[in-house]
Amino acid sequence: MSFESEIKRRRTFAIISHPDAGKTTLTEKLLLFGGAIHVAGAVKSNKIKKTATSDWMEIEKQRGISVATSVMGFEYRDYKINILDTPGHQDFAEDTYRTLTAVDSVIIVVDVAKGVEAQTRKLMNVCRMRNTPVIIFVNKLDREGRDSFDLLDELEAELGIQVCPLSWPISMGASFKGVYNIYEQNLHLYTPNKQAISEAISFSDINNPELENHIGEMNAIKLREDLEIVNGVYPEFDSEKYLAGELAPVFYGSALNNFGVKELLDCFVEVAPSPLPVQAIEREISPYEDAFTGFIFKIHANMDPNHRSCIAFVKICSGKFERNVNYKHVRHGKMMRFSSPTAFMAQKKETVDEAYAGDIVGLPDTGTFKIGDTLTSGEQLHFKGLPSFSPEMFKYIENADPMKTKQLEKGIAQLMDEGVAQLFINQYNNRKIIGTVGQLQFEVIQYRLLHEYGAQCRWESVSLFKACWIESDDEAELENFKKRKAQYMAIDKEGRDVFLADSSYVLQMAQNDFKNIRFHFTSEF
Ligand code: G4P
Repeated sequence: MSFESEIKRRRTFAIISHPDAGKTTLTEKLLLFGGAIHVAGAVKSNKIKKTATSDWMEIEKQRGISVATSVMGFEYRDYKINILDTPGHQDFAEDTYRTLTAVDSVIIVVDVAKGVEAQTRKLMNVCRMRNTPVIIFVNKLDREGRDSFDLLDELEAELGIQVCPLSWPISMGASFKGVYNIYEQNLHLYTPNKQAISEAISFSDINNPELENHIGEMNAIKLREDLEIVNGVYPEFDSEKYLAGELAPVFYGSALNNFGVKELLDCFVEVAPSPLPVQAIEREISPYEDAFTGFIFKIHANMDPNHRSCIAFVKICSGKFERNVNYKHVRHGKMMRFSSPTAFMAQKKETVDEAYAGDIVGLPDTGTFKIGDTLTSGEQLHFKGLPSFSPEMFKYIENADPMKTKQLEKGIAQLMDEGVAQLFINQYNNRKIIGTVGQLQFEVIQYRLLHEYGAQCRWESVSLFKACWIESDDEAELENFKKRKAQYMAIDKEGRDVFLADSSYVLQMAQNDFKNIRFHFTSEF
């Protein structure tokens, strides 16, 4: 196969959802179609969310298992599919945000009864920042849920994207009959089966009286009426709009019952983008360039004290990555060779000899890499930093063992490079503040500092609302602001100015009083 076709056939995406909407179940069914697994129930990584939040050691144990499921590659038809797994636990949301920078599209799973939930909304905001193409899968049609039109309204309003149903449910819950596939014009009757799939019946003319024989008179009438409204109200599927992140196709089904999943997958491989160009600071990189380039988007630490190495995950942005070839670690200005890079096929981690743009490769790491690092064939290139988002929880970190100051410093620096949390240094009192998206990360940091670096830390509470990266074209106003807010000014690990607002009121006042200053909730603007 030619180099170009290898890249063209790749589909690298993530499935995102609010916990419990069915992401793990859907992932598993997709793997089943790819022949990557043979029985349902094999994907367990996301079950970490089921454990009590305080029991994070248990969670970490399971996170260990999830290294293998961080990326799930498999072949389907002529396509090479890479699903990037995202942690099911909300406290690891930052990990999910970063994973979204390494995908070319996403599938959002929504529970038909619950509609759009908090986590879905947040993740969609991240997708919108990059205009990531989105397909929506409305799940659990085997249960009673929202009226389809109401749900579509909600999806549009809450997710801020135009929707375009490509399949349509025929009733739901106990009387669920199946879906009409608008995209392929066929009828798919519901037969609950967790392992196998039923064949679709071709049905290009919905007015064909045969329809009654399949789904009964009432359902047939309702389906015809519904589809008439769908035709009138919703736009036709427009591939360009979808690729621009402006239009989201919607599918219905029941992941648990393996229903509607094949339709989703078949449409997905056809419409979803192959690897897209990636913007570096210096220039835009096309995936089809010969020279290899890639960036680290995730570092997975091994919690086993006997095997302290990490795996750094590289997203290949262009060209072909080869084993035992020298590549440049741009930040260090050093050439490096990797003798045991791993690729992830299904749930197995295997050494690979080559991988192409769109693929993810795992590199064994002992502290050489930082999130956002660039690797190239030699070019001096920097991929735009992965965004940090304003944390939701803040604590002062204090040294609890003065004999181990150096170890603590080193530990904090490395854990921040790994992206475990964010560090802000208050410019007023020089104290270090750690920001996270969940309580669990404070426990993870404390444990890892002790067990990996022999350092002890103590947390002290600090009441903050948001961290805002600030910038202005008006130097004088910026200086004035920094002076006025000196107690609340900090720098992040890149040395950028960050305003730590202690309440939304204070932030609003600051925005009102300093009109020439821009306040950002992410580090990428
Ligand atoms: P998540 O990764 O998005 O958090 O969700 P997950 O797939 O773990 O699914 C959450 C729960 O919803 C699971 O039940 C799963 O079996 C159920 N589920 C997923 N898809 C469907 C569906 O189409 N219909 C119905 N009725 N249920 C569905 P659980 O009891 O929490 O876990 P388990 O004991 O079944 O593993």
